[in-house]
Amino acid sequence: MDRIKITGGARLQGSIPISGAKNAALPLMIASLLTDDRLTLKNVPNLADVNLLARILRNHGVDLAVDGKRAGGTAHLGETFHLTARDISDTTAPYELVSRMRASFWVLGPLVARMGQAKVSLPGGCAIGTRPVDLHLQGLKKLGAEIEIDAGYVIARAPKGLTGGHVIFPMVSVGATHNVLLAATLAKGETVIENAAREPEIGDVANCLVKMGAEIDGIGTSTLRVQGKSRLEGAVHAVLPDRIETGTFAFAVAATGGDVVLQGTRRDLLSTALETLALTGASVTDTEDGLRIVRNGAGLAPVSVETQPFPGFPTDLQAQLMALMARAEGSSVIRETIFENRFMHVQELARLGADIKLHGDTATIHGVKALRGAPVMATDLRASVSLVIAGLMAEGETTINRVYHLDRGFERLEEKLSRCGAQIERLSAG
Ligand code: EPZ
Repeated sequence: MDRIKITGGARLQGSIPISGAKNAALPLMIASLLTDDRLTLKNVPNLADVNLLARILRNHGVDLAVDGKRAGGTAHLGETFHLTARDISDTTAPYELVSRMRASFWVLGPLVARMGQAKVSLPGGCAIGTRPVDLHLQGLKKLGAEIEIDAGYVIARAPKGLTGGHVIFPMVSVGATHNVLLAATLAKGETVIENAAREPEIGDVANCLVKMGAEIDGIGTSTLRVQGKSRLEGAVHAVLPDRIETGTFAFAVAATGGDVVLQGTRRDLLSTALETLALTGASVTDTEDGLRIVRNGAGLAPVSVETQPFPGFPTDLQAQLMALMARAEGSSVIRETIFENRFMHVQELARLGADIKLHGDTATIHGVKALRGAPVMATDLRASVSLVIAGLMAEGETTINRVYHLDRGFERLEEKLSRCGAQIERLSAG
């Protein structure tokens, strides 16, 4: 298994291209199931999760062709995927594939909407919490799907097609919103989704669906109104920039007292996180093609936050903020309200000398004068990148094991950081 070795202390300086968003690319690829025409997606990041979903879609019969990066092109423009689901040969998504990535469960809605049936493995447990799928199923039932659970599989049937319905989610769920929105585009009549997630990736998918011929009102709000169509068409769409990658690098720059331009990204995708970062003492300015993050000399001020659905502070940046606060001049409090078990990074950060006390959903971080490098273990995607940030701040050498977690969601992480002066390298297992 590959490891990452970091020698801390270097100040980040230069520019970092921001990739297309993983959490938009995945549902956009799934949207290809809704049409027999070709869906072309540009700016797709090259990530393990994207490659796994490509396998799952191929298994359903989707034809996928990939164009490489253009020579001399802008580095942050990723790959172009051409997806054509002319014939869906298999409406089953097997356990072996779905259990490895939760987002693959989102094929359920589009498959039952287009094919009248789908059999998708329950995604199962996950390191960051129990993560049930009840909201997905409730929503699809409102659109007329008959749902049965048998031997670990969800079987959804709608032999005469789905019909529009009124879905009121009792809590905000990104995945359930994606699943129901995708399905509603092919349901007969109007679907209203209330308390929909407002994450920018939902808006990106909705905008792509509109290009495919869907009729959706309220994009970007918590009420989505969809007029179903009998068929959707092909389209060309570019994946929006990754706000979590943006926030991660922004925090890393602040952590090292650096000065870096994050290219190809936008402030409105993560305003709350950037406001939080500014409170720590870093400056965030808009540039022609992105955001410039600077922290000069001054110490890090402590900040307290609570994770919330968009537009609040994202749970996917909680671990990274905690790493930064490990060196703050004072105490910070971080409350995790989205997932019940998203604190596995705490004990790994403690190995580097961080002083963090956990009480239920709340972590109190007492800033320390210095972190010391140590061997640590990556436990999930965002937790592992928080160890990278801590390693960049620490004195001496940090080795991160199980970096396959990082490869799920960060494209060319070591390369992007080392180009800005970080001493970071991948130690290949073989
Ligand atoms: C998406 O997961 C993201 N994944 C997650 O990013 C992100 O952390 C999460 O949204 C919250 O922003 C992708 O976009 C691929 P949810 P999702 O449904 O859709 C509960 C990463 O690191 N819930 O919004 O699975 C659930 O248990 C990943 O990139 C139910 O109770 O998250 C959680 O407590 C990790 N029943 C809360 O809702 C349901 O049916 C929010 O989950 C569905 C969810």
